[in-house]
Amino acid sequence: MLVWTLVATLLLSVSAQTPQTTKGKTITCFCDKCANLECVSDGYCYTSTRIDKETKQIEHDFRCFDKIAHFPPENPAWCKENAHLNPESLLRSAAVACCDNENYCNKALRPQIASMPPQFASMRPQGAGGKLIISSADEKIGDDLSTDTSLIIFVGTTVLVVLLLVLLVIYCGWTRNHKWKKQRPGALFKSNDSMDPQDQQPILGVNNTLRDIIDMTTSGSGSGLPLLVQRSIARQIQLVEIIGKGRFGEVWRGRWRGENVAVKIFSSREERSWFREAEIYQTVMLRHDNILGFIAADNKDNGTWTQLWLVTDFHENGSLFDYLSTRTVDIVGMIRMALSISTGLAHLHMEIVGTQAGKPAIAHRDLKSKNILVKLNGTCAIGDLGLAVHYDDVDGKIDLATNSRVGTKRYMAPEVLDESICENHFDSFKRADVYALGLIFWEITRRCNVGGIYDEYQLPYYDLVPSDPTIEEMRKTVCEGRHRPSIPNRWQSIDALNAMSKVMKECWYHNAAARLTALRIKKTLANLGASEDIKPPQ
Ligand code: ADE
Repeated sequence: MLVWTLVATLLLSVSAQTPQTTKGKTITCFCDKCANLECVSDGYCYTSTRIDKETKQIEHDFRCFDKIAHFPPENPAWCKENAHLNPESLLRSAAVACCDNENYCNKALRPQIASMPPQFASMRPQGAGGKLIISSADEKIGDDLSTDTSLIIFVGTTVLVVLLLVLLVIYCGWTRNHKWKKQRPGALFKSNDSMDPQDQQPILGVNNTLRDIIDMTTSGSGSGLPLLVQRSIARQIQLVEIIGKGRFGEVWRGRWRGENVAVKIFSSREERSWFREAEIYQTVMLRHDNILGFIAADNKDNGTWTQLWLVTDFHENGSLFDYLSTRTVDIVGMIRMALSISTGLAHLHMEIVGTQAGKPAIAHRDLKSKNILVKLNGTCAIGDLGLAVHYDDVDGKIDLATNSRVGTKRYMAPEVLDESICENHFDSFKRADVYALGLIFWEITRRCNVGGIYDEYQLPYYDLVPSDPTIEEMRKTVCEGRHRPSIPNRWQSIDALNAMSKVMKECWYHNAAARLTALRIKKTLANLGASEDIKPPQ
């Protein structure tokens, strides 16, 4: 009887959750974030259910699920995703249902999260009238289920859960025995067969580059790849060499199908920074030429600790700090760099209002030359968003993450150093960013080589505070002494350097409200660039 029950349950759940793909045709789906509330897919329509971290309400996303992202191709796992996920670690949806039987079939779907965390257990999905609808619109199981079917599902589910737990215990024991293998960077994650690159070809396309995949998947909104694709990519990366170390952990150069990527590996105690940075990078419409390109976030338990990875574009010139320490720039190069950084910052700071997709205003809070990458074309991209905050226009709240990290003392604005900053006013954070931007401009301008003359590379306040200064040392210098980096005499006789010094002075006013905005700086530098005949980045 038990075996029969189990078989019946398995058949029911498999047929209910496996949508039949209709080959060679497209389907129009309901899409809550698309311009016309619809999208066209060569695969499935789907609805996903997730728990909003802030409101603790159940939310549904209605989208297209194109064939490119199907994995495995004939029976995509994404369509069956239905798991209890810790809301703290929840980057994406927790339950998904797909369909392809008729246009807009996903409009009626309301997948339910399999086992709710206790705090959500009493919730019912909104708008579903208390009905559970799985995968195909023909197959609806709701309050009118017969008691027998409910019993079958209950018993079957219990047996399945027990089986899964047994498998999990066996798997954990196995990974513990093979721990040494995984600790070697080259072998990291390789023992996981299901992440074999061969298996991933349909989802990621044999010849597709990362750029293609990002452009092709439903990430036109600029909010990042689907979670499953992120995980697949992350687990195919080979770590090659360590390129940086910080408080959060390490940065590695990695290879994905012959392409370089940067992998930031967070230590377990920096989980919040990892989560925060991944979350911010996946903010709608954040993709921008002058913001470091996000590729994937992945957390993987290796049996002893959790590996926390953040994968981004790799820039072989390294950070602006690395670049300026060893190289100089000409006037055009200086303006190109400064303009691209202010363009990135203006984008970060700007709120984009839209009915379907918008972008909140974001403040960086840890802007410095070590957190900016230099691209091959000499423009820059702002990275390290682990401390960023965004402003929620709807409830007027600033989501100050419960993250113990503070910015870098050397770059802290006077109001941050003396704690007079008004944390309830979002512009305060933007103004503190602009102060740091002024210091970065000073670092760049010193390295501007005109007629063979340039200044040696130095960090701001190098002559006034020791290396690794304390807050108190910085406060005395910046707030009490009102010191700012000195402007070399040679800058005054060269128009472009003189213009740069004027901009930086207007960035580091003691009175935060008097500082220029990032947008104003961008426009001023674009004009300066026009007079020096350089093209502004888009
Ligand atoms: N150092 C830190 N992040 C980097 C990146 N994305 N590319 C190159 N070097 C880096």
